[in-house]
Amino acid sequence: MAVSASTSTGGNTLPRFPRDFLWGVSTSAHQIEGAVDERGRSVWDAFTGQPGRVKDGSTAEVACDHYHRYPEDVALVRDLGVGAYRFSISWPRVLPTGAGQVSARGLDFYDRLVDELCAAGVRPVPTLFHWDTPLVLEEAGGWLRRETAERFAEYAAVVAERLGDRVPTWITLNEPAEHTLLGHALGEHAPGHRLLFDALPVAHHQLLAHGLAVQALRAAGAGHIGIANSHGPTWAASDEPADRDAADFYDLLLNRLFADPLLLGRYPDGIGELLPSPDLDADLKLISAPIDWYGVNYYQPTKVGAPGSAPTEFSGVTIPPELPFAPQEIEGYPRTDFGWPVVPEAFTELLLSLRERYGDRLPPLMITENGCSYEGLDDQDRITFLDGHLRALHRAVDAGVDVRGYFVWSLMDNFEWAEGNRQRFGLVHIDYATQERTPKASYGWLREALLAQSR
Ligand code: NOJ
Repeated sequence: MAVSASTSTGGNTLPRFPRDFLWGVSTSAHQIEGAVDERGRSVWDAFTGQPGRVKDGSTAEVACDHYHRYPEDVALVRDLGVGAYRFSISWPRVLPTGAGQVSARGLDFYDRLVDELCAAGVRPVPTLFHWDTPLVLEEAGGWLRRETAERFAEYAAVVAERLGDRVPTWITLNEPAEHTLLGHALGEHAPGHRLLFDALPVAHHQLLAHGLAVQALRAAGAGHIGIANSHGPTWAASDEPADRDAADFYDLLLNRLFADPLLLGRYPDGIGELLPSPDLDADLKLISAPIDWYGVNYYQPTKVGAPGSAPTEFSGVTIPPELPFAPQEIEGYPRTDFGWPVVPEAFTELLLSLRERYGDRLPPLMITENGCSYEGLDDQDRITFLDGHLRALHRAVDAGVDVRGYFVWSLMDNFEWAEGNRQRFGLVHIDYATQERTPKASYGWLREALLAQSR
């Protein structure tokens, strides 16, 4: 494993973050592990098996083969100099049919991974659900059914019992908003449902799963529990009422649908009535039980106009014309290879707005994902992206937002869902033909920046 020469484009001159700030890198099980025959099937295995679902035709059958190569990957995390590694646990690897019989082999893998991390002096930060629902549960109704939340809590208890002695920090769910919107409303992600607003129960049941899992984790003695939610400022395309209303609705879906029940104990106006629940008040009490920290995944702001104001193709996703909003391209900023605008100042704006909206109800934050897709080993654009976003984050911290950590997405290139292998978010390059790992310039840059922080 050769570590490429680091560039010092601003790395050493980053403003200083608090001494105990937690630096980390993130991945998820389905995106890196491979070894699909050594676990139960998930919705993503079934989805990628359908022609046309993944744009470059790739699958995650091997992905980064992390399941077999994890010691090398943990060494890369250690050598980067970060204090933490966020990964996800594959539910169907632990419980091949989603419930009942535990796979000793599956659980052993995470046991070895956690041991390897601890031996390397890296804090393991597992996410219990990063979109890979066991296929058996999906076939029984998946997240449209309340029972799936109950199965999730049982799974959380199994994992906590085995790993709880060494895992100090837990994440229940990753981006339930994307899983609802892309997976169940628009059909762009697994399980591929196009239910539009009939997907709302999926949101509620994931939140319920979070609440039940928090209970199960605490009962098993686990602490320092959070959730990773995606957030980004929504900018109205104009001051016209139709654009503002559309932007407000989009903002509700992305920024408030999950955060309000979690942090305020209520749904945004008009949503509660649409949810299936025998006792919504009791559910909300469970959902809003205090968490120890709140995770934010930030990538970009979104400009939104009235329906029909923009083409229905947006960022590789088809937006059905019957939706009450239309995302528009943001001009005037550089773009990543994914076409996403690079707007570091929107990161500061977002963090300030979260503090403004939730005030004292906002737990300490951790940035559980931030990163960008670029080709190439000499990825100066990624360095510019990270440098700009870390400065933007620091401005928010300076302004008094309580942020305790920052995790780059991602340690290494991996299977980027419906985009397949063609979007590369890694600090480390993966050659999918040989599985060779090669640190990119951004890896060296971050290592230097972190060294400077520790001096
Ligand atoms: C958020 C998701 O959590 C992660 O799985 C994905 O790869 C990144 N965004 C980049 O799209």
